[in-house]
Amino acid sequence: PAEREALRARIKRLLEEQDAVLVAHYYTDPELQRLADETGGHVSDSLDMARFGHEHPASTLVVCGVRFMGETAKILNPEKRVLMPDLGAECSLDLACPAEAFAAFCDRHPDRTVVVYANTSAAVKARADWMVTSGSALDVVRHLKARGERILWAPDRHLGRWVREQTGADMLLWDGACVVHESFQAEALARLRAEHPQAKVLVHPESPAEVVAQADYVGSTSGIIEAARRMDAEVFIVATEPGIFHKMREAAPGKTFIEAPTGGRGATCTSCERCPWMAMNGLRRLAQVLETGANEVHVDPAVAERALVPIRRLLDFAR
Ligand code: 13P
Ligand code: SF4
Repeated sequence: PAEREALRARIKRLLEEQDAVLVAHYYTDPELQRLADETGGHVSDSLDMARFGHEHPASTLVVCGVRFMGETAKILNPEKRVLMPDLGAECSLDLACPAEAFAAFCDRHPDRTVVVYANTSAAVKARADWMVTSGSALDVVRHLKARGERILWAPDRHLGRWVREQTGADMLLWDGACVVHESFQAEALARLRAEHPQAKVLVHPESPAEVVAQADYVGSTSGIIEAARRMDAEVFIVATEPGIFHKMREAAPGKTFIEAPTGGRGATCTSCERCPWMAMNGLRRLAQVLETGANEVHVDPAVAERALVPIRRLLDFAR
């Protein structure tokens, strides 16, 4: 604990010296989330991370999350230095959507508006008309549908299917999935619900249809935290990455949160209760990066200029 305290103090001093601020996702280590809160940083969902980094005056943003979050921060703030604790923090959705194959898919469907999830590389965003996050997807797609547009959607097929069901929009889906959410098991969830009949079920829409179908609330990470605070229940079964429990306990103290069951041997992952890439963000790496200036995020300026278009469009729309 004394060593931990010294490490925390070192990071706080470095943040000040370097005019740096922490921008963290809800799925990161609770210790890191706590430190972000204590130092004037921010813990949030993907949309709000982008917004906060853009509006904060610090000259260095330290993005604690996965690579697409660092890239989005850099694209929105080319004049700022963007650091990440580990540049190898990927995302299975991003990995499932290589830019060249995606461009070929778009070329085959030139009549469709291209909508990509935030969880994609800068190169994929550079090919898109709109970026969306889980918290904004329904509103954006409803808006496009009202304008008579047909949509090409990538990369999360579960989120895409849910948005299509909710909006009735014409959406052609790419075949990607999140290793964490895809491993939630519908039958085991039904058994757990039977053991806790009074519990409400909160589900992130990256989960399979049979899991979403059992939800009392479906939404983004910030939506899930808000639902736990607002809903009139004491017990919740939660289908999303368990890093979120830190903020859920803060938002709804005294309530009980139970992890939704995962398969363990899902189609794509053998042990994905935790996101393996979010888990790469730790205090030790953070201190090293601040000390050495290593792990700076760079995005090719031509790609960044094009990728800024769908990102800006969302920020202006979701204002
Ligand atoms: P949100 O926080 O925007 O809901 O995204 C979830 C996610 O999977 C980020 O990796
Ligand atoms: Fe990607 Fe899923 Fe990890 Fe989020 S939790 S970063 S969607 S793999």
